[in-house]
Amino acid sequence: MTGPRIQPSILDIAPYVPGLSSAPSDKRLVKMSSNETPLGTSPDAVEAYRGASELLHRYPDGAAAELRTAIGDVYGLDPERIVCGNGSDDLLYLLATAYAGPGDEVLITKHSFAMYQIAAQSVGATPVIAPDRLLGSDVDSLLKHVGPDTRVCYLANPNNPTGTFLSSDEVARLREGLSDSVLLVIDAAYAEYVRREGYSDGIALVDRYDNVVVTRTFSKIFGLASLRLGWLYGPSKVVDALNRIRCPFNANGAAQAAGMAALKDVAFVEAAVAHNEQWRPWLEKELGGLGLTVHPSIANFVLIEFERSPRSQSAARAYDYLLQNGVIGRELRGYNLPNCLRFSVGLEEDNRLLVDLIAKFIGPSRR
Ligand SMILES: Cc1ncc(COP(=O)(O)O)c(C=O)c1O
Repeated sequence: MTGPRIQPSILDIAPYVPGLSSAPSDKRLVKMSSNETPLGTSPDAVEAYRGASELLHRYPDGAAAELRTAIGDVYGLDPERIVCGNGSDDLLYLLATAYAGPGDEVLITKHSFAMYQIAAQSVGATPVIAPDRLLGSDVDSLLKHVGPDTRVCYLANPNNPTGTFLSSDEVARLREGLSDSVLLVIDAAYAEYVRREGYSDGIALVDRYDNVVVTRTFSKIFGLASLRLGWLYGPSKVVDALNRIRCPFNANGAAQAAGMAALKDVAFVEAAVAHNEQWRPWLEKELGGLGLTVHPSIANFVLIEFERSPRSQSAARAYDYLLQNGVIGRELRGYNLPNCLRFSVGLEEDNRLLVDLIAKFIGPSRR
């Protein structure tokens, strides 16, 4: 063998496959593949981003102090216990690096966000997959899979790609069942969208325990996915660990400026929530009316299952049909959900187009 030797566990990683951004279609492109907001970005944030272009030659504030203070003000948190990152992916990775390594286990729910497994494997740890229940995280199942080598447990709440959630009581029960030596990472990327009794983002648990952190993102409701900005709230020891290993400028200047402006534009976020509350149920009802199984979601996307339709109309064929017509959904073979497709809630015309196309795909006689 010639050349440098790659760490063996790296070659076991199945690379993350993002939702497509283009389609082989001459029609208007409707991207519903990555749970982005259809409402774009707050004009205030765009203006702040433009302002930041004056300073492209300067390094940004490596501590993101102003941004952390702004986040602290909005969410009522101690800025000293916030870490910002290059998207929340960055922070999910850093947590694996700081708390797991070869010989350790990282606990993950089946059918949950793909980056957890990649983060675990990237540090040579072993991902342990706990079976889910009705496509949602199951506390009993997770606890059953905890062993002496478990170091980190990732929990997406709401869960992606399924849209399911655990109530705050259930998350508290999960934390109670974990030993203090296991770090519980609650990934609340979609928290702003949730209007469901019994849900909370988990931040209250961070204040009560030394082994709970919550990650959040500016990529979803704030419409800043391209800028890459996420943050984490955690116990001082975790924050200290991450500050030792993160890249010095892992939140870029334009992202910091836009993020601060986005936080202040409360009306923009409220409009996004109202839009989602109107159109997610509409999509669920209309798609369900076509005879598809629609899994209940509390986030800004829906998961549909083609099981009940004739076999020939598989999710894969529907996905291709939609692509040819300019609608990009998310196929989920990589998540072991080959009969399912996921769609972000779009603009009204996009949602209507999606339902019309799926209705055409299924055909009137087969509903
Ligand atoms: C559950 C979950 N966590 C984290 C992320 C990553 O977000 P970011 O853009 O902040 O890296 C996503 C993106 O789809 C997600 O679905």
